[in-house]
Amino acid sequence: MPPVFAPPSDVALPLHVIDQDKCKDWLQRQPDHVADWAQTNGFTGACGQMLLVPGPSGKPEMALAGYGTPAQRARRRFVLAGAAEKLPKGVYRIASGLDPQALDIECLGWLLSSYRFGRYHHQAEMNAALIAPEGVDSAGIESLAAAECLTRDLINTPSSDMGPDELQAAAETLAQQFGATISVTTDAALLEQNLPMIHAVGRASERRPRLIDMSWGTSGPKLTLVGKGVCFDTGGLNLKPGASMGLMKKDMGGAATVLGLARMIMAAGLPLQLRLLIPAVENSVSATAFRPGDVLTSRKGLTVEINNTDAEGRLVLADALALAAEGKPDLLISMATLTGAARVAVGPDLAPFFTDNDSDAAALASAANGSADPVWRLPFHTPYEARIEPGIADLDNAPAGGFAGSITAALFLRRFAGASRYIHFDIYGWNPTAAPAQPKGGAGQGARALFAALTKMLSL
Ligand code: BES
Ligand code: ZN
Ligand code: ZN
Repeated sequence: MPPVFAPPSDVALPLHVIDQDKCKDWLQRQPDHVADWAQTNGFTGACGQMLLVPGPSGKPEMALAGYGTPAQRARRRFVLAGAAEKLPKGVYRIASGLDPQALDIECLGWLLSSYRFGRYHHQAEMNAALIAPEGVDSAGIESLAAAECLTRDLINTPSSDMGPDELQAAAETLAQQFGATISVTTDAALLEQNLPMIHAVGRASERRPRLIDMSWGTSGPKLTLVGKGVCFDTGGLNLKPGASMGLMKKDMGGAATVLGLARMIMAAGLPLQLRLLIPAVENSVSATAFRPGDVLTSRKGLTVEINNTDAEGRLVLADALALAAEGKPDLLISMATLTGAARVAVGPDLAPFFTDNDSDAAALASAANGSADPVWRLPFHTPYEARIEPGIADLDNAPAGGFAGSITAALFLRRFAGASRYIHFDIYGWNPTAAPAQPKGGAGQGARALFAALTKMLSL
């Protein structure tokens, strides 16, 4: 069950959120027993501190949460979550200390703190429930939380239980929930429908390759989302070494993230025509695997020399993007765990994106700030086009040397997006170190920033 706010209650304990710089002043204004208790317990308002204050009967009469200084807050995404995770069992209401701009994000952080991946092992639940503060869009925040939890669950599920079949089932469940329609092209039908590179990448696996195509909404601008659904990436015949393969269950993180974004859009009932395309494959090894040196002809007709079977994401996305572009969307967005180079460039926390549209880039940058979803623009540097052009085919899927690997991968995709207004995200989809509201494991990236920017980008 996705996390939700607690229903209104008279017995909720008031929680005061205390800025470290204002802690002394605040305590001075309190009755002596409160100020003394805070002092005895060393409460200073530092980030993540939590203190229960007993009333005369010994029962807690309020809780205090440290909110730190602006400098401390700048180093974190969800501040209140750090204290909320330490609160004892009960229902709380925020009584003071958060301004309206911070309230939404801190509430989202609280809900996300209660996320657990409990499919294979019981995980203790979070103790503290929060009543939605007055004036916040509680349904909207719950929807953002549900979308993120969906994305996390899909990524966290190991490939043994999250192959192309299961990813399709997840898309079908979501479609059913929101009245979307879905069609799936599987295995040999991919060749009949001219989606040859999706077939080539996935054909070595017993878990057959497919393209999932979901549609929702009948009027308004056309938005098409494409997500990389590589349910496991062995690297193919260019097999990854063990250490690099360990996390490759998350190579469907782009698909998981666009499913989360689609959930936000549908739950909000945005007035647009949404299409979601997920090439779902396993990049596996067998006698039928595609090989280094092969030349594939794509849906678009461009030929691609395979110089590394581990650069498979751009191949499956290329056919999906070409199909997407044929539908003439007003905006086309792809999300993919596409390159190790993007991680080297910006690390696990930032989602790099590419666009030729300056106003979309500005809308995203400003939306990211208010969404606790940091993104950073990288360039579609056209002078590097020559690097993706090999000898005997139109395109090279893995330019030698690897310089600017995230950019050359993005340029490769742009060829297939054609004339579409196009944004591409090269995400990591994984949180390597736990932080409040951000457990180690699967993580949505870029979806909240995109959701918040859509109104502006599509003039909704
Ligand atoms: N799925 C990987 C990219 C990846 C690796 C994302 C590690 C996140 C963490 C992708 O299919 C891949 O292997 N890309 C290669 C491309 C190269 C062979 C041109 C890479 O980035 O090394
Ligand atoms: Zn790969
Ligand atoms: Zn991959």
